[in-house]
Amino acid sequence: MDQDSPKPGKLYLWLDERVGLSDFAKLAKKKEVPQHRHTFWYYFGGMTLFLFAIQVGTGILLLLYYRPSASEAFESIQFIMTEVEFGWLVRSVHSWSANLMVFAMFIHLFSALMLNAYRRPREMTWLSGSGLLGLTLAFGFTGYLLPWNELAYFATRVGTEIPGVIPVIGPFLRRLLRGGNEVTGATLTRFYGIHVAILPALVTVVLGLHLFMVQKHGMSRPPSVAGGDEGKRTMPFFPNFFLRDLVGWLCALGVLAALAAYFPAELGKKADPFQPAPIGIKPEWYFMAMFQTLKLLPAHILGIEGELLGVLGFALIGLILIAMPFLDRGAAWGKPSRLAAIFGALLISYSIILTYLGYTMSPIK
Ligand code: HEM
Repeated sequence: MDQDSPKPGKLYLWLDERVGLSDFAKLAKKKEVPQHRHTFWYYFGGMTLFLFAIQVGTGILLLLYYRPSASEAFESIQFIMTEVEFGWLVRSVHSWSANLMVFAMFIHLFSALMLNAYRRPREMTWLSGSGLLGLTLAFGFTGYLLPWNELAYFATRVGTEIPGVIPVIGPFLRRLLRGGNEVTGATLTRFYGIHVAILPALVTVVLGLHLFMVQKHGMSRPPSVAGGDEGKRTMPFFPNFFLRDLVGWLCALGVLAALAAYFPAELGKKADPFQPAPIGIKPEWYFMAMFQTLKLLPAHILGIEGELLGVLGFALIGLILIAMPFLDRGAAWGKPSRLAAIFGALLISYSIILTYLGYTMSPIK
């Protein structure tokens, strides 16, 4: 407390003595954020965090009515959409916020990549971020099946088929994911357990590490501004940066409310495993580039199965991304990384083009 601050209340003093509130206040006062022409990108980690908090809140509400079995899942969602008060709104916000969260996370990832924020001493921040990327995509994949509708059922059949092409461990992986040889009620129960228990537990640990690392090292200065005067300016986190964060979150809330009200989440038809797959099965948009790549690859390339080559290609891209802090040779000279810039630009362009093709090309398989 400094001299200008109002006198602390009794509750504050009581808590301070027991929990050490003034230590937190001191820490918050010390926190600064670099201010330069790229500061805008610093808001997307916080935005991802805000949307994740919405997912937790709305997810818990959905849990109160959802039933994870093949005979009841679809009907329980129908009940939520039509009978439960504001159930349609909670489900629609959960569905839209999931999409916005993945979108915000991609912006956060690519800005950290382009601004070389993974460089020493932030390697652990990057590695924990990579873990969060995998966990968030797993949230999306497992959540998609839970309404047990036709589209989700057949998309999950295709999605869980893919690891099966890996030699030796492929068939085991597919069975592990499905809880059997086919996508059945056992898969639904398994995805439910992963979605509401395993992933939240893992995210709590990995996100805790990520945020601790951000707190420990503070925000990085991109090499392009680190040298000059611009590289020295900062703004206090409390209240200046935090209030700007809040403005962003309020805008996101407005966008979410509008999307949920004007475009409520759809449910479609109940899944029927005995029906043939409908034409035009689509995964979520963030899996579309990979889905389309596998669709366009020929059955065999140089005697190797096309799908296997595709899966190995995705694995290689993932590995390069994770290992970026250790591959970036420019780090020692404090220069912007050409590797990160070229890799990032190629990855973004490839994903946009293949996603576009996924939505516009007529189904070929
Ligand atoms: C659930 C997903 C994630 C959440 C909630 C999250 C949250 C945050 C927050 C709040 C910050 C501090 C503010 C900011 O930089 O925007 C941050 C920083 C950072 N994040 Fe994430 N993040 C997530 C995923 C990722 C991913 C996928 C990566 C990359 C693989 C990543 C890499 C980083 C790095 C390198 C920093 C430090 C930035 C700097 O010092 O300039 N994060 N994250």
